[in-house]
Amino acid sequence: MNPLLLLSQIGFGTLAVAINPMVKGDYRIEHPNMTDLSDLQSKLSSDSYFESFQYSSHDEFIHNWVISELEMEHVDETMSRAFPGLWKLESPYLVPGFSNDLALVLGSSQTRSAIAHKLDHEISVKTKEKLVVQYEVKLQKMLECGGAYMKLLKTNADDLSQYDHSADDYVLVFGPDSCSMYTNEVHFILKRENPISEEFEDKYLTEAPLSGLDQPITRLYTLILDSADQSFEIRIDGEVVKAGNLLAEGTFRPSLNPPREIEDPSASQPADWGSRSMIPDPTAIKPEDWDENEPKWIPDPMFKKPEEWDDSISEYIEDESRSKPDWWNDKVDGRWIAPLIVNPSCYTKQGCGKWRPKMVENEKYRGTWKAEMIPNPNYQGEWKAPLIANPNYYEDKTPANIDAITAISFDIWSSASDISFDNIYVGKSIEEAELVGNSTFLPKLSLEKKELEVVMEKAHSEDVNEVDTSEESSKKTPYKNVVDKENHLDYLKLIDEKIKSCKTLQTFIAWFLQVDDLYKGFLISAFMVVVVSISCMGMLKFLMWSQGIDLSSSSNASRKPKKIENETSDGPSANTVTEIAASTGYSTPSSKVISQRTIQLQGDSDFDEELEISIVEESGSASDSEDK
Ligand SMILES: *[C@@H]1O[C@H](CO)[C@@H](O)[C@H](O)[C@H]1NC(C)=O
Ligand SMILES: *[C@@H]1O[C@H](CO)[C@@H](O)[C@H](O)[C@H]1NC(C)=O
Repeated sequence: MNPLLLLSQIGFGTLAVAINPMVKGDYRIEHPNMTDLSDLQSKLSSDSYFESFQYSSHDEFIHNWVISELEMEHVDETMSRAFPGLWKLESPYLVPGFSNDLALVLGSSQTRSAIAHKLDHEISVKTKEKLVVQYEVKLQKMLECGGAYMKLLKTNADDLSQYDHSADDYVLVFGPDSCSMYTNEVHFILKRENPISEEFEDKYLTEAPLSGLDQPITRLYTLILDSADQSFEIRIDGEVVKAGNLLAEGTFRPSLNPPREIEDPSASQPADWGSRSMIPDPTAIKPEDWDENEPKWIPDPMFKKPEEWDDSISEYIEDESRSKPDWWNDKVDGRWIAPLIVNPSCYTKQGCGKWRPKMVENEKYRGTWKAEMIPNPNYQGEWKAPLIANPNYYEDKTPANIDAITAISFDIWSSASDISFDNIYVGKSIEEAELVGNSTFLPKLSLEKKELEVVMEKAHSEDVNEVDTSEESSKKTPYKNVVDKENHLDYLKLIDEKIKSCKTLQTFIAWFLQVDDLYKGFLISAFMVVVVSISCMGMLKFLMWSQGIDLSSSSNASRKPKKIENETSDGPSANTVTEIAASTGYSTPSSKVISQRTIQLQGDSDFDEELEISIVEESGSASDSEDK
């Protein structure tokens, strides 16, 4: 296993330990049963969709929420599920709110999971209406990378178990998505059709708010589209985190509407277009004496073939010292030919083989003639196609008007399982969404915060007690107000810090893994150099000390500790002992305090013995001290 990944796992481990008691179901406060929501349901319009997942049986749940069973074929013709993830109906266990508060929970990690629900009746938004989408998301495990967004579909598929969640027949996508360094935002994607080109395009909200997926408590996400003025609003936990107008320039990328004019695709650059800024001078003429045929190199006219030179003798001959190897097979390897060597007689004579004259540079060489470059008088700059009216131009003036929404789905990939989704509302009323939030999210959040508060208070007070180990440990009361309540009520901050420290480590590791191998090597070497230097310093100090070299001063304390024993006659003075103790790393509490210490010397066998040194009050007489 990669040691760096191991390191990051340790980081998550720390967080897990911090909230461990809750994972075990060892809760600190009472968690009342979920209240009956039928009263709330009765207050909502019959056209609104509200899902609280309070199903009385698993079958009922699975009937309403259809897990994808779509199969896909692999290259080797085997089949497997295209969205293999699992889904559960269960009550969140980490920092719970209500007891028995069932929710839709992601049951798989590191795989694509898809589930969908067909609405009883379509929801569409017409002029002057609103669309309000709201749901809760809760993390129960540290999320490195994962989406928790919801899709509103316009599919007509009857059997959602065979629905291809990769199909792009959604109307909009809304919800948080967080993936280490790559993305951390609340997505809002609107799919709009250009009725002229009949093409659909995804419009992504620019400058989207942060995902908020960083705490193990429930978060409430709300999207409001108002077709009366084409405005929109995104809320997290009921607070507006982003608001604007869908039609405003720059709200979406790509822009909501195509450009009015486009470059003419049929136009092409005219042949005589002056696109070159410099041209060869057309008036320049090749000089009369410029002969392009003169070669650059010619045989040196001064150099003549020696009279003794013998062309008839070959320059290379077969090496007679070599013979056909035993393994050579003429049938397979062909006829064996001895390797060629330079004919030795060419050196004893004046020269043999083909005579080659020495070459010299030709003075008459001019090369190819080129006219001088001058600025182009007809320079017209870079050619650009002329603009024409965009034949597909269309102005979407009502992006908040939404086609029929027939189903909702979650189609997500997540590094961590157990993300829970609850209390989904899709309707046309902000008041209804607020009522849902007031009746479900708020009381739940207050229970979660209380639970977290108590747990963090306990963790915090234990931290404080750990530092204070010196006295009266019997009187410790970990649950009493050791910590000032006012000062540490910000329990979320604490857990936030723990998560952030994990994230810093994660970010570092992600960065480290992507840097060049060369730099990786450099960083590791630098780290090793520091480690080795530090340990060498320690070793050096020990060796110097064992050889009696005093590091702290050049006083007469520079002697081998062994000698102390020999000086039993009058014993070492208290000063000497203090200095030796200091050079060994021991610090005497104070020269006034009488104490007895045993110094165990290790490493060098010469000194592998115990020294017992008595340290006496400085004011006391030397005769009071003695070695034992
Ligand atoms: C809470 O709900 C569970 C299961 O529905 C039930 O067994 C239990 O008695 C309820 N507790 C209270 C206090 O109502
Ligand atoms: C929700 O609660 C807030 C504050 O608690 C209140 O101002 C608001 O009117 C409530 N909304 C509804 C629809 O009950």
